[in-house]
Amino acid sequence: MDKPKSDALVFFGATGDLAYKQIFPALQRLARRGKLEGPVIGVAKAGWNLDQLKERAKDSCEKHGGIDPQGMADLLGRLRYVDGDYADDATFAQVRKELGNSSCPIHYLAIPPVLFGEVIEQLEKSGSAEGARVVVEKPFGHDLESARQLNQIIHTVFDEDHVFRIDHYLGKNAVQNMIFFRFANSFLDPIWNRQYIESVQITMAEQFGIQGRGAFYDGVGATRDVVQNHLMQLLSNIAMEPPPCPTVEALRDERVKVLKSTHPIDPGDVVLGQFKGYHDEPGVKPGSKVETFAALHVRINSWRWRDVPFYIRTGKLLPVTATEVVAKLRQTPPVFAEKVPPQNYVRFRISPVPQIAVGANVKDESERLKGCETELLAEHRCGDVSLLPYEELLEDAMEGNQIWFAREDYVEQSWALLDPLLKNPPAPFPYDPGTWGPPEAANLIETAGGWWNPS
Ligand code: BG6
Repeated sequence: MDKPKSDALVFFGATGDLAYKQIFPALQRLARRGKLEGPVIGVAKAGWNLDQLKERAKDSCEKHGGIDPQGMADLLGRLRYVDGDYADDATFAQVRKELGNSSCPIHYLAIPPVLFGEVIEQLEKSGSAEGARVVVEKPFGHDLESARQLNQIIHTVFDEDHVFRIDHYLGKNAVQNMIFFRFANSFLDPIWNRQYIESVQITMAEQFGIQGRGAFYDGVGATRDVVQNHLMQLLSNIAMEPPPCPTVEALRDERVKVLKSTHPIDPGDVVLGQFKGYHDEPGVKPGSKVETFAALHVRINSWRWRDVPFYIRTGKLLPVTATEVVAKLRQTPPVFAEKVPPQNYVRFRISPVPQIAVGANVKDESERLKGCETELLAEHRCGDVSLLPYEELLEDAMEGNQIWFAREDYVEQSWALLDPLLKNPPAPFPYDPGTWGPPEAANLIETAGGWWNPS
């Protein structure tokens, strides 16, 4: 049976940063495509009125992709605003009133996780949770225990099939395409295993720093901010088995299985770093040991991947902004010369510009049987290339489609893998802004030929 479409959208944290940077632009696009139904109700405690929220929506879209007159007019016509404290029953009575006849609202909690419990309880008490869906933002907890508690709280009111844990990486076409490309091309699967792949590395490099988010960032660090969620998602996509049938749950099962076959992270397999000058950032605690760089050796013990090392690396203030996954193939023997040719590889560039490339060797035209390296590069894109990750995810959530959302067991398993590291983190090494992190990170991957630095 088709799932009902959400007929109202409530977003908590309406005056916040996430709404400003991501939610309004996504809503404007959804409105433009006729995908919104019923009212769009912003909730916050900011002492604002509806006109101020409308101004904020316009400013947000202007700064993030531009105003679409038709989309904006539709969105503004639907917009409502409820100002009030999340502890106050009156706030939720007002939300209920604004929902009118809605029978399948969707509540988007773009608020800190400490507030989830209170808001969920209030939604239930006020009658706004009936028939409703809930979207929760990352970070989903700060360790395994807190993630379990959060899941328990959510499940007191919402069944799992009404819960949408958002990770915007899953809304990126290039991230979804890793799965599609792997399983829609017969040439790849025969080599996609321990017989042919020697090592895999995932790098998420950011040239910018913590951008004034010191108070938030200092409470999480790189591991919780992006490894537990975005980079684990990339790991699952690169390592998963083909789902046995084309259903949402079959796909989600395979993604969880990767994590279940992964060894919990040993702190000895990790190098952390902190950029020099981090302590001068507003909101950072004096003497903070929070990492702005993390490099991990990940061991997947499945039949397909046993003994193939996977490496994950991320950091702030690195030389470039780029996210890339590179699978290096085993070397051929030296047939034509003394020297073995460079290894072939498959490279998935996630951002800024999606690419898929295969590294290969061809003959140098000027020399006898000497080789040079080349890439077979695919940059072809088709369909609506302007679709925003949040737009797609919100549309899916409103339709009740959980395909690109993290299931309860997935989030808990990813925290379980990181728990030994989070409980016993090594001290971060300092690194100079604009470098590839602390030099110590090179030791971790030395046997696999060193880090691949995206250009
Ligand atoms: C967010 C993190 O989830 O993802 C940020 O909190 C990070 O620290 C961002 O910069 C990266 O997302 P994207 O889509 O720009 O790669």
